[in-house]
Amino acid sequence: MLPLLRLLQDGRFHSGEALGVALGVSRAAVWKQLRALEAELGLPVHKVRGRGYRLASPLRLLDEGQLAASGPDHAWPITVLPSVDSTNSEALRQLSSQRQPPFVVLAERQTSGRGRRGRAWVSPFAENLYYSLVLRVEGGVRQLEGLSLVVGLALLRAIRALGVEQAGLKWPNDLLVNGRKIAGILLELSGDPADVCHVVIGIGVNVNMLPAESLSIDQPWTSMRAELGCGVDRNELVGLLNEQLSAYLGRLRQEGFAKLLEEWQGNHLWQGRRVVLTAGTQQIEGVVRGVDSTGALRLLVDGVERLFSGGELSLRLCNDS
Ligand code: BTN
Repeated sequence: MLPLLRLLQDGRFHSGEALGVALGVSRAAVWKQLRALEAELGLPVHKVRGRGYRLASPLRLLDEGQLAASGPDHAWPITVLPSVDSTNSEALRQLSSQRQPPFVVLAERQTSGRGRRGRAWVSPFAENLYYSLVLRVEGGVRQLEGLSLVVGLALLRAIRALGVEQAGLKWPNDLLVNGRKIAGILLELSGDPADVCHVVIGIGVNVNMLPAESLSIDQPWTSMRAELGCGVDRNELVGLLNEQLSAYLGRLRQEGFAKLLEEWQGNHLWQGRRVVLTAGTQQIEGVVRGVDSTGALRLLVDGVERLFSGGELSLRLCNDS
């Protein structure tokens, strides 16, 4: 279906015959694919007698060729899929079929995108970024200290470089603009955490999705387009993200998280704020002091500093904060 979509993405009319010639298939086969676009991807196609077919609105698809050409020589190989359950799940499957990391999996949509704490990640077609980078980690989980926070910093730089300057971080790894979520990060491990293992760094960015769309998202959210008032080229965002990730991951490997801690705290929106931390059924109220050199949250609770780390924790601001 992707070759047909690439021809139609300009939003102009194309005759069935021209599409058939370009794709090397019959007009009947073109017709079948057009119906599949509508049925499977929910993309409305307009048909006008004598003119042909066009998409209801133009698209800008992810372009594997452009992404490969724009990266540096050492760039991570990138696979773009039209549709997948979850790019993280696909990355894990590719790992178990012996694909050698590093590599990146992108998709135009996810049918079962995963967020932290068992949440779904809403992933409509061709609107947002669904990105999974797989890396090999040697030397056990200590190497992973601060990783998800540093990924947040890299993502923040990439999003700001495209103009969303008010974006900031919320521990452990959400990106917010004016209290609304614009991006999230989900790290998943495979292998022996005490020895050689692999980490899948899953990143979801709300790029061109608009709040007017009827989406079932259970928290306040925004998108780059909503903030900027114009659409964003996702290919450009991927290029910037790869660049920033490669630079920050290099620094993390060489210098450790302690050297990046100040920068992270400088971009933490809830620094010094009174929050409620949810850990399972427990709710703990305190004031955010920052993070320690492992990336754990430092919270002042009843005059005593306590440290919190782990994937299942979440923060919200206190009403009086
Ligand atoms: C969060 O809850 O904030 C984390 C969201 C992570 C979503 C991304 S989209 C790409 C990758 N594939 C997934 O299924 N999830 C992550």
